[in-house]
Amino acid sequence: MEVTNIPTEEGKKQFDVVNKGDVVVFPAFGASLDEIDKNVRILDTACPWVIKVWNVVEKHKKGDYTSIIHGKYAHEETIATASFAGTYIIVKNMTEAMYVCNYILGGELEGSSSTKEAFLEKFKYATSKGFDPDHDLAKVDIANQTTMLKGETEEIGKLVERTMMQKYGVGNINDHFISFNTICDANIFDTNFTFFFHERQDAMYKLVEQDLDLIRYWIDSEQRIGPGNRIAHKLKACSNATNPHGELVETENWLPEGPLTIGVTSGASTPG
Ligand SMILES: *[C@@H]1O[C@H](CO)[C@@H](O)[C@H](O)[C@H]1NC(C)=O
Ligand SMILES: *[C@@H]1O[C@H](CO)[C@@H](O)[C@H](O)[C@H]1NC(C)=O
Repeated sequence: MEVTNIPTEEGKKQFDVVNKGDVVVFPAFGASLDEIDKNVRILDTACPWVIKVWNVVEKHKKGDYTSIIHGKYAHEETIATASFAGTYIIVKNMTEAMYVCNYILGGELEGSSSTKEAFLEKFKYATSKGFDPDHDLAKVDIANQTTMLKGETEEIGKLVERTMMQKYGVGNINDHFISFNTICDANIFDTNFTFFFHERQDAMYKLVEQDLDLIRYWIDSEQRIGPGNRIAHKLKACSNATNPHGELVETENWLPEGPLTIGVTSGASTPG
């Protein structure tokens, strides 16, 4: 029935292929708000728990909170989550979160605090329009890209909470920081939800504890394997907007002499 992917160029979707009256299907990780505004019929298959994050972020926006989003700024889900937030900053990992917290504390954590210019340069792709770290980091909440490591989001949340306590005093923390769990209690969440992304992460930890000779992932089809002792795979890429995936390369003689124990895993959104 002519199903086409919307092509991307330099990380931006090219909507020329979409005509009025077309049906547009949103993938499981959602799509950003400006995409939803197109004059087309929408079939939205976004995962309910991705939508929950948006609801939280949107609620926080009404309370003038800046969302600190744990995610990758070029990831579709994070782009979509950010589009629901008013003011936001996206941090990729603990190092970036520490950088932000250090700025909030004026360099008290370790080393000297960066200048505002350096801060804005570092997060130029990862902040909302007109972001001002001196003004916008006074009331914050934490949101996450659901595929990030849960443990890391929790650590980042704790770090930010400690930082706000240090800066504003323990008694005033509720005016400066909201954690997801507080929101949970305010019954946005159905607590019976199973977050399979996180189950998968736990399964992955168990897998790597086994005595494995090798583990492979990031192969998109069986055609990448063979013939002979050859494999085509993508390289790990640094996350940037133009090339979020690494280059496809071929490796010869990649399997060492057997017998081998091989671990196999997949992306959470890979068809089973
Ligand atoms: C976080 O990401 C930066 C930039 O890619 C990297 O230099 C740093 O080592 C990372 N930190 C952690 C804790 O993974
Ligand atoms: C990440 O987001 C989910 C909501 O989708 C939430 O249930 C979970 O608690 C969040 N993790 C942290 C550490 O905040």
